[in-house]
Amino acid sequence: MNPLKRIIVSRDRILKRVDELAEEIQKIYSNDRLILISVLKGSVIFLSDLVRRLGPNAEFYFLQMSSYRDATTPQGKPDLTALPHPELKDRHVLIVEDILDTGQSLANARDYFAAFEPASLRICVLLAKEGYESSPVPNPDFVGFVIPREFVVGYGLDYQERYRGLPDIGIPADLAD
Ligand code: IMP
Ligand code: MG
Repeated sequence: MNPLKRIIVSRDRILKRVDELAEEIQKIYSNDRLILISVLKGSVIFLSDLVRRLGPNAEFYFLQMSSYRDATTPQGKPDLTALPHPELKDRHVLIVEDILDTGQSLANARDYFAAFEPASLRICVLLAKEGYESSPVPNPDFVGFVIPREFVVGYGLDYQERYRGLPDIGIPADLAD
């Protein structure tokens, strides 16, 4: 049985868009040292495709955050756990996230990194759910796809830790309607 009952973004579209995003990012930073901060665990697959298109001056680090725990709707303020990263003052920092939904997680991450006074602080999300313009993160700098307000999995996104390895993004077949 297909693990997805409906594909929202196919693997081909994802990879084509990652190429474009990498180009957009290269244009902005050219050969500057760039600090990517990937939000665990959902953005890891996206990060790994993205960073391989960014050339030698992109470094990456991680941030642990959880908001959904076991549910499919947000459960209050997300927990943030900083993992080791270099001095960020006067550096270019780009937060890499899988999906912008309520914007709580990214707003949290943005405030956390802004306190280090980086030279620039930008946000790159693969997916943004419709309506994100009225979230606390209304203007992410790089957006892969705007998708309907449905719960999606695949390409790093999970439902109770499953589905992260699927190459396509879509609606899981075993999630009740
Ligand atoms: P936000 O704080 O509501 O913007 O949620 C962001 C986080 O919730 C993401 O990093 C994901 O981990 C998770 N999330 C939001 N929407 C989905 C979804 O449709 N599928 C899987 N995880 C999601
Ligand atoms: Mg996440």
